[in-house]
Amino acid sequence: KSSSSISSLPPEVMLNIFTYLNPQDLCRCSQVNTEWAQLAKTGSLWRHLYPVLWARGDWYSGSHAYLDNEPDEDWISRRKDESRAYQEWDEDADIDESEETGEEEDSSISMAQREKELLNSLVHYILPYVGHSVKTLVLAYSSATSSKVIRQMLEYCPNLEHLDLTQTDISDSAFNGWHFGACQTLHHIDLSGCDKITDLTLEKLSVALGIPSAHKKRLLKCYRNNRTLKDIRNQMRCSSLAQITGESTIYSDAFWANSDRSQDYTSPPIWILDSGNPGDIEDAADWKFRTTDGLCVLEMAPSVTCFSNGCCSRARPGRWTNVGWQEHCKAATVSYCGHTLCGNTLRTIHTLPEASALCNIGTRTLHSDITDCFPGSAKSDQQAARALQFLSLSGCHQITDHGLRALTIGGGLPKLEHLNLSGCLNVTGSGLQDLVATCPSLNDEHFYYCDNISGPHGATASGCQNLQCGFRMCCRSGE
Ligand code: FES
Repeated sequence: KSSSSISSLPPEVMLNIFTYLNPQDLCRCSQVNTEWAQLAKTGSLWRHLYPVLWARGDWYSGSHAYLDNEPDEDWISRRKDESRAYQEWDEDADIDESEETGEEEDSSISMAQREKELLNSLVHYILPYVGHSVKTLVLAYSSATSSKVIRQMLEYCPNLEHLDLTQTDISDSAFNGWHFGACQTLHHIDLSGCDKITDLTLEKLSVALGIPSAHKKRLLKCYRNNRTLKDIRNQMRCSSLAQITGESTIYSDAFWANSDRSQDYTSPPIWILDSGNPGDIEDAADWKFRTTDGLCVLEMAPSVTCFSNGCCSRARPGRWTNVGWQEHCKAATVSYCGHTLCGNTLRTIHTLPEASALCNIGTRTLHSDITDCFPGSAKSDQQAARALQFLSLSGCHQITDHGLRALTIGGGLPKLEHLNLSGCLNVTGSGLQDLVATCPSLNDEHFYYCDNISGPHGATASGCQNLQCGFRMCCRSGE
């Protein structure tokens, strides 16, 4: 008799049966006995999380159909009502905790409370066991999500691939737990309507995406004579890629002052590499490393001018930054070292080309130029590249060029296909150009930004998506 009991089934069969259960049923099963409790904590059962739907009793709609379609207006409007009611109730509760709650709470507050309880349960009882297996986390239009809950969830889920925080009430602190390389698998992040976030979030995102190993190797090589490996590793744990790469000046306003809010883009000196004549592969590889930090620009240079008073000798490691390099090359005691690239294929200029010329090289991105030069390394670099394919900051009006440029550090976003900056009123054409130059896979059809900005791919990009939206920032709303 006992051999026909469900308890006698082997664990792998039980696990297979569990895959047909929804999260609520799994939690119920976990209360049956210790063995089932263990099985219910199997990571593969918790790969895709849709707590907002679950809190409303919808345990089965977490499909790609949901992910790919914007919910209808009525659904969005109800979520916004819930969110507003819950926040007002929450603020009142803080002031007077003795206030009667419960029976007379309206349905909006109850719904938001249920969602909050579910989120807390996930954080305390599920994610500590299965967080490493979670690939998808969708909290779009959540009424009760807070920055603290997001921060906890992200810390438990280092292998996330798809993160949707659309229209949630989060701030930069939601990403405080993201350290260097914390989210290298992320390929989709939707922050549409998160209007409290600022450039700080983009800096943290850039840090969390990490540096591809190929770049890291060059970084280590570049720094090895000045520091011990331990020093470098310690530094890699710090929060800023700019600090890691020694380019901390990128975060000073003075660094970008010339380009801020200006179509007449100017920049600190940049170097141009003749990709048609890469005489010294090793040096050129180092150039690749530096340029993918977003601090230099590459283009085909048909007639190349020599350095007049510089040298690219690697006897001075650790000085491979724009500014440091320039200082090094200006030093009177330094002379040509004889490297193939020295004086032959590099030159400095003090401003970028005219805006129109810049647009011409817009499609010739850093990555494509480099892979043109070194076809043999193209595949491995592509594989090692940061994974982000989708980024939406629609309505995040506090984002500026500074935040966009933070994304260019550490290799840019070579796989990015979809970029939505609709309603980002504080970015300029030059900031957009800097970012786009590190996004060779960007599909113009899926590239959105304010119609009033004269920016890259102007003729083919898709313009602002928020014109008809009604609840996300748009400079033309009401027209
Ligand atoms: Fe300018 Fe929408 S933000 S057109």
